[in-house]
Amino acid sequence: MIDLRSDTVTLPTQEMLDAMVSAPLGDDVYGADPTVNALEEFAADKLGFGAAIFAPSGTQSNLLAIMSHCQRGDEYIVGHDAHTFKYEAGGAAVLASVQPQTVSFTEQGELPISAIEAVIKPKDVHFASTKMLALENTYHGKVLPMDYLPKAREVADKHNLALHLDGARVFHAATYHNIEVTDITKHCDSVSVCLSKGLSAPVGSLLCGTAEVIERARKWRKMLGGGMRQAGVLAAAGRIALEAMPNRLQQDHDNAALLGQLIADLPGLAVRHNWLQTNMVWCDFNKSIAQELTPFAQSRGIIIRPSDKEMRLVIHRHIGEAEVKQTAAMLSEFFK
Ligand SMILES: Cc1ncc(COP(=O)(O)O)c(C=O)c1O
Repeated sequence: MIDLRSDTVTLPTQEMLDAMVSAPLGDDVYGADPTVNALEEFAADKLGFGAAIFAPSGTQSNLLAIMSHCQRGDEYIVGHDAHTFKYEAGGAAVLASVQPQTVSFTEQGELPISAIEAVIKPKDVHFASTKMLALENTYHGKVLPMDYLPKAREVADKHNLALHLDGARVFHAATYHNIEVTDITKHCDSVSVCLSKGLSAPVGSLLCGTAEVIERARKWRKMLGGGMRQAGVLAAAGRIALEAMPNRLQQDHDNAALLGQLIADLPGLAVRHNWLQTNMVWCDFNKSIAQELTPFAQSRGIIIRPSDKEMRLVIHRHIGEAEVKQTAAMLSEFFK
């Protein structure tokens, strides 16, 4: 099957599976798994931070950042439909007791500086203390403009906020700009990066930050049940994901662009060309056809998950030029 629902469906490479079998292991809760320790050191170095911690998921890694930068009763500023806010089951509020203060994202995924400043609370007993600003890059496959990041850093410094980046796909952003990932991460106090999406590892995310932030995160991870004992089995695959897989992301971007071109003129479907920067192709429908399209695609060997009016097609390691052409042919048959 050609699965276009998400890049989370990627399977580990043979090299990852081989590395998992032969990884030296220990008990990571005692800090004694050499493969996890090596991955954390490698990640901290690659992303330009003092330390890193391996977490089971991006959801937990983002939550560790919130819990490590904020305290109970504090507040963090976040985009209105950011993953951290909308798709992580309300963990900041429920588990961290940290109140989310939303600001509307611009089309490109920026939180306007004036809007951030407008919601920062003054010191007053009536208000939660604003302690953190959370950004997301990429956002719906779109890349934050490089001139935005220094502005976000400046406003964070001015108001004493920690700046956290949900960088689940930060290597896609770096690939798009053709820059080092540290050119993005250097503006942040912490970054969560997912190994199990476009980078193809089976499980895992890394939170990178200062040694103090990561030390706090280590305790919160234990509390949240994320202490994983012989986690080197997973970290071995994660190391290959982080070391080797960012180099192939341009292929995914090229294939996404190809798919966007091939379906650009179909009647009843409009590609959001201005959103098509990395590995996601977003389309709008002029009427509600999801109920017919999903089984039709399935009958042609393609798994998609359209909603009533829109659809996201995600390109990843298992979708090459042939699969892109097969998808375009299926959509052409359906819409024509
Ligand atoms: C932008 C973003 N952040 C965080 C996550 C959470 O990652 P996980 O599914 O590993 O919890 C996702 C998952 O798709 C995501 O797309």
